[in-house]
Amino acid sequence: MISKDINLAVSILQQEGIIGFPTETVYGLAGNIFSEKAVKQIYEVKQRPMFNPLIAHLKGIEQIDTVATQIPGKAYQLAEAFWPGPLTLVLEKQAHIPDWITAGKSTVALRVPAHPMALALLKQLDFPLAAPSANPFRTVSPTSAVHVENYFADQLPLVLDGGECQRGIESTIIGFENQQPVLYRHGSITVEEIETVIGPLLVKNQNNEAPEAPGMLLKHYSPATKFILTDDIESIIENRIEQKIGLITLNRTITHPAVNTCIPLSLQANLAEAAANLYATMHQLDRLGLDLIIAEYMPDTGLGRSMNDRMKRASYQYQ
Ligand code: TXA
Ligand code: MG
Repeated sequence: MISKDINLAVSILQQEGIIGFPTETVYGLAGNIFSEKAVKQIYEVKQRPMFNPLIAHLKGIEQIDTVATQIPGKAYQLAEAFWPGPLTLVLEKQAHIPDWITAGKSTVALRVPAHPMALALLKQLDFPLAAPSANPFRTVSPTSAVHVENYFADQLPLVLDGGECQRGIESTIIGFENQQPVLYRHGSITVEEIETVIGPLLVKNQNNEAPEAPGMLLKHYSPATKFILTDDIESIIENRIEQKIGLITLNRTITHPAVNTCIPLSLQANLAEAAANLYATMHQLDRLGLDLIIAEYMPDTGLGRSMNDRMKRASYQYQ
């Protein structure tokens, strides 16, 4: 059921149930981090492998000292600069943080979401919320309540409706190795923004075999329709008249007999707007029964890098 009833959300979560809820990045599948029952349900509903740990969502920056330990100075600087907001910090966990949300790791991933409804909900709870993106493992993340309902209608008692996600790309994940900051996942806060606060950052987000952030598997974020990412849409569509093709561009409209639908992500070529529209566009095209979706690379800077990262993973099986 889709609803804006925060009190209902509170009572389901207090009774160890799980719900869909909005954040500024994507919708999450939320449960009490201290409830093994709730967390198990999250893994089951999402069909997520148990080696892939969850992010704990906090109500405020002050809660960091109740869940993490040995916190580097740069982590505090980042939290102060970007929380509430789309930045996840991977920090050493305190002993009472259960292994079922960290997949047995000694670290826990933390963030304070910026969506007003998410914050209002967290403020009424006396526990943080474990929440992965509210989509089955390896599929496109949801950026509206309807996307969540389409995936999980009969498995969730409630999807809290907070409208369309403003950011549209997951949080950026930063951990620390020997006190040095390391980026594990590109996301809604750009590398440039982070480097402005703490200086140079090591980028380490490709590892497929023993991933530091296991969600960074190469095949991920995939629509059901065949998905190709390219620098040269025109030459791919040239000889495909008989096919029904969907295009994702930054700001161009391309017409061709094989092109069923072409969606520019931002007519002004604004990367923040394009990022906010990316997953919604992938969902939309995926429901049209197309033979193929072709997307063009975004400029490889700022949010363009995060978008290219997601689209590369979406197209991985077709390369
Ligand atoms: O924007 C977001 O971060 C959204 C919203 C709902 O907050 N959540 C999200 O969660 O994207 P999920 O589960 O789809 O991705 C979490 C990522 C995974 O790649 C996971 O491997 C990584 O965080 N992660 C969690 N705990 C970790 C840890 N202790 N060390 C390294 N990576 C961790
Ligand atoms: Mg996810």
